[in-house]
Amino acid sequence: MSDRSSGQIDTVMIEKRLFPPSDDFASRAAIGSPEAYQALYDAAQADPEAFWAKLAKEELHWFEPFTKALEWEPPFAKWFIGGKTNVSYNCLDAHLQTERRTKPAIVWEGEPGDERTLTYEQLHAEVCKFANVLRSLGIGQGDVVSIYMPMTPELAIAMLACARVGAVHSVIFAGFSAEAIADRNNDAQAKLQLTSDGAWRRGKVLPLKETVDEALAKSPTVEKCVVLRRVENDVAMQEGRDFWWHELMEQASADCPAEPVDSENTLFILYTSGSTGKPKGIRHTSAGYNLYAKKTFEWVFDYRDDDIFWCTADCGWITGHSYIVYGPLSAGATVLMYEGAPNFPAEDRFWEIVEKYRVNVLYTAPTAIRAFIKWGDDHVDKHDLSSLRLLGTVGEGINPEAWMWYHKKIGGERCPIVDTWWQTETGGIMMSPLPGAIPTKPGSCTKPLPGVIPSIVDEALEEVPADHGGMLCIAHPWPGMLRGIWRDDARYSEQYWTKVPGKYLTGDNARCDGDGYYWIMGRIDDVINVSGHRLSTIEVESALVSHDRVAEAAAVGRPDELKGQAIAVFVTIKGDAEPTEELRQELRAHVRKEIGALASPDDIRFTAALPKTRSGKIMRRLLRDIAAGKEAAGDTSTLEDFSVLAKLRQNDE
Ligand code: WT7
Repeated sequence: MSDRSSGQIDTVMIEKRLFPPSDDFASRAAIGSPEAYQALYDAAQADPEAFWAKLAKEELHWFEPFTKALEWEPPFAKWFIGGKTNVSYNCLDAHLQTERRTKPAIVWEGEPGDERTLTYEQLHAEVCKFANVLRSLGIGQGDVVSIYMPMTPELAIAMLACARVGAVHSVIFAGFSAEAIADRNNDAQAKLQLTSDGAWRRGKVLPLKETVDEALAKSPTVEKCVVLRRVENDVAMQEGRDFWWHELMEQASADCPAEPVDSENTLFILYTSGSTGKPKGIRHTSAGYNLYAKKTFEWVFDYRDDDIFWCTADCGWITGHSYIVYGPLSAGATVLMYEGAPNFPAEDRFWEIVEKYRVNVLYTAPTAIRAFIKWGDDHVDKHDLSSLRLLGTVGEGINPEAWMWYHKKIGGERCPIVDTWWQTETGGIMMSPLPGAIPTKPGSCTKPLPGVIPSIVDEALEEVPADHGGMLCIAHPWPGMLRGIWRDDARYSEQYWTKVPGKYLTGDNARCDGDGYYWIMGRIDDVINVSGHRLSTIEVESALVSHDRVAEAAAVGRPDELKGQAIAVFVTIKGDAEPTEELRQELRAHVRKEIGALASPDDIRFTAALPKTRSGKIMRRLLRDIAAGKEAAGDTSTLEDFSVLAKLRQNDE
């Protein structure tokens, strides 16, 4: 156990299970042994610049070659100096002279069950047409296009068309409010808005255009708006400002050569709320991001040309940017894109889709996996999932028992699981097993990818020894890293580069075990301090989830006179049965047995649902306030379902 002053995090969870890939999987994998991974990792570590420069030359198209791999003036990095490329070219044109020309690029299923497939050639034509539409509306290099659209192929087309003309896209998840859109539009100084008449959500129409009208009334920099027809509802079109997507496309030519842009041309900004509330526009640029998304996609998903790859994220998040659009398409993959909810018309929709399209690789979030567990195995059992060969997770830590369920129930014990740790800021996956090479441990994101140099430090900025938790940093720039916060260099320096000088501060805690495996321990701000022992939320939560009746759990600290903090946990149970006092006692005993008395919860509260962000992350910050008996004070604009908070407060009485 660590002493109080060092700021190290204690670990109470010991997970010993180890799952090597099958011989069959490993023998067919591009990187098929621990030695092959290590060789690649060592080469990158010995000379990261040379490593990435070689890949950049091989993997991207250059209208003009770059002269230098990296210019690093901390905290500002530039990659592939002087080069000119185009991300849309790398995703589309690059495949047109190959046999991938007629291969499906996007296979799409709408929520109502409609289907569309776009081959690389067809997608290229649509993107060229829409790029010409953008030009006709006065959009060129450096202009910001705000995109608020449902998960249709046109959303990807819009992103790629922006890239084609050198414009900057800012995708806003189509569940955010008018206020949130206006804030982001104003911060970004967006010039053009893209939206649709509406979106399908659980069989109902979300009136996106109405929300956009309200947002545009407060977005003075936005001059025009293009509206995709998706749900055929009535919408008001403002003469001179609003245009129908299909009308503009009818007149557009499919001839639009990709504009050569500088390696460091901004490709997109993507707003994340951060813990303080005010959204920050994370800025990513062209060549480095593109290379990083492509290579990490190929490495982590052990990409094979005949795979059907399904990432269930929305393009409103970085996961959709990097692993629906830019990574897979530059690798020439076939991606499945699904528009709707996982429980419409029933809780087996995902498994129906896996069966119908013979999906090979499924990449989803722990929040979804916990929902599937809660909904029950019957929904899974109805479907043939034998096409799956690889599973992935992202967004939060996965509790080992949820991992085991995913492994057995979805993966049929034959599919490796890649638990991928990364952030909006990192542009692509930073730590993950390479599935043919690295045996997995449930709950660990295993090892850093080639070129990623992690460093875990305590408050004194000393590297911590094995099995001690501390602040996770990255010690060397990588091509996919954010280049800044849009129009706020001071905040960028302050947030990521000041506390630990010279290293990128991720904001997460982690520990590395004796085998060199990394375990993410949650956000630095979420640490629970019990009598001087600093505990990670995920370990307490995982101990709860390992009880058969628990579906989901969130642990937070609440003030305690004696111990500094006491542990309060919020628990959701499986199925419909009512929780009892007996269950509460049982859970307390269970946690004590699993991880010890120190980490045993003081308060256990049952709840039907936990407050989450729109991307499915548990909002512990709000639970902390509730546990302390305070009004949830901080920013709630990213909260997915407000009624959850109200119910939690009621339970309080
Ligand atoms: C934060 C980043 C990465 C794209 C989607 C989320 C948490 C993410 C894992 C994982 C444990 C994880 C971290 C990270 N996180 N993946 N595999 N294990 N924690 O992007 O919204 O920028 O969130 O999500 O806390 O810092 P994001």
